[in-house]
Amino acid sequence: MPDLTVGIVGGGGHVGLVQAAGLASLGYYTIAYDLNAARIRDLQKGILPFYEPGLAELVQSGLKSKLLEFTGKIEHFRKVDMAYICTGTPSLPGGRTELLQVENAVTAVARTVQKQAVIAVKSTVPVGTARRLSRLLQQQRLSEKAVIVSNPEFLSEGSAVDDFWHPSRIVVGSAGPEAAEIIAGIYAPPHVPVIKTSWENAEMIKYGANAFLALKISFINLVAQLCEKSGGDIRVVSEGVGLDPRIGPYFLEAGVGFSGPCLEKDLRSLIGQFNDAGEEAPLLEAALYINQRQRYLVVSRLKKGLGELKGKKIAVLGLAFKPGTDDLRDTHTLPVIEQLISSGAEVTVHDPLLGAVSWPRQMSTFLPDLRWASSPYEAAEGKDALLILTAWPEYRSINLAKLKSCLANPLVVDGRNLFEPAGMAALGIDYRGVGIGAEVER
Ligand code: UDX
Repeated sequence: MPDLTVGIVGGGGHVGLVQAAGLASLGYYTIAYDLNAARIRDLQKGILPFYEPGLAELVQSGLKSKLLEFTGKIEHFRKVDMAYICTGTPSLPGGRTELLQVENAVTAVARTVQKQAVIAVKSTVPVGTARRLSRLLQQQRLSEKAVIVSNPEFLSEGSAVDDFWHPSRIVVGSAGPEAAEIIAGIYAPPHVPVIKTSWENAEMIKYGANAFLALKISFINLVAQLCEKSGGDIRVVSEGVGLDPRIGPYFLEAGVGFSGPCLEKDLRSLIGQFNDAGEEAPLLEAALYINQRQRYLVVSRLKKGLGELKGKKIAVLGLAFKPGTDDLRDTHTLPVIEQLISSGAEVTVHDPLLGAVSWPRQMSTFLPDLRWASSPYEAAEGKDALLILTAWPEYRSINLAKLKSCLANPLVVDGRNLFEPAGMAALGIDYRGVGIGAEVER
């Protein structure tokens, strides 16, 4: 393993913290820098700002070994040999990407380091950004101090630590082979493909991957719509389609759609990049449209079952954008719940993580009218309907007979297709999943 000191800018964020803790546990002296002073103070004590399975242990062992340092001072980067940029890339109107944080990070690192450093950009940035950053360094006479590499991150929330140890591929975009070798040599487990390529290809690979994942989900949700109308079952159709090795089984689960801080934002950014290049991207626009529609469809299923929502009491299971995380950024659950509340319904929510960890700090600002339950049964008690929005594994083992006895009206609208319709019908539950032929059966 090369003897390198590594700096992480944005070391308190999801990508940066996993990268910092992972590299420290590999034996690199790793300095995680973040502008959020409160976050850094907590991290210095081993307190994490978000939940990610296995990450707290990794951070604590990094602190114990003294190979992991958290700091709010960029001056600590003086002896850094290489730095990863993991800062936020907020969306601008029209889906375009704000790059100020990335640019500031790159110039701050280049100004601080004592000898030439390799700066690897992990944040998802529009195609052409690495070249622009390299020019920026030239303009600021900092080229001697830093070399830019594009090293996109593919980790998923909820499995980020595992993704760090077992990446599907490592992509390194650079203008020359030396910098690419350094980044590829940091951590590349055997048998993991390493793609050393141009800046632009590396940046495009990241957008291509996320956009394709989004397209797969929207495609299956489109097919689900026809299944529902024609009496099919999307779960069987999805299995049959996914068994073709050219297609594969992943990201073919129909439901209330994709959400979270990446897929939608990256899709919008890519559409903006097409438009900036004078091109249209109707396929990507359609994926976004279908995804938005899924959020209305679950609410319209509730309306079909209940008549109108005004005055109705509804239990919602799941608040996080996906299982295994307490992340509420760009979650589909909030717009769905907002629809319910604005239609006059009273909403009670259960989420396995957000109840214990983040409630009510995060939620009270978004939705002050929300009620909270500490179990799915408590959420269901006396309600007119139950709506499932996140596929938490614990929901699959709910005692359905008990759940039914809690509900005042046994209507379950499932945005994640967790249960067998026949089993639910046998229990006397009016069960409406996504793409499961409900229209023909009724
Ligand atoms: C995504 C990419 O997967 C990851 O490679 C990238 O680095 C960051 O963005 P993440 O946002 O953490 O990761 O979650 P992901 O597992 O991709 O799920 C995104 C959304 O799609 C979730 O809301 C999930 O519930 C939904 N989804 C996923 C479906 O609706 N159906 C599926 O079949 C799969």
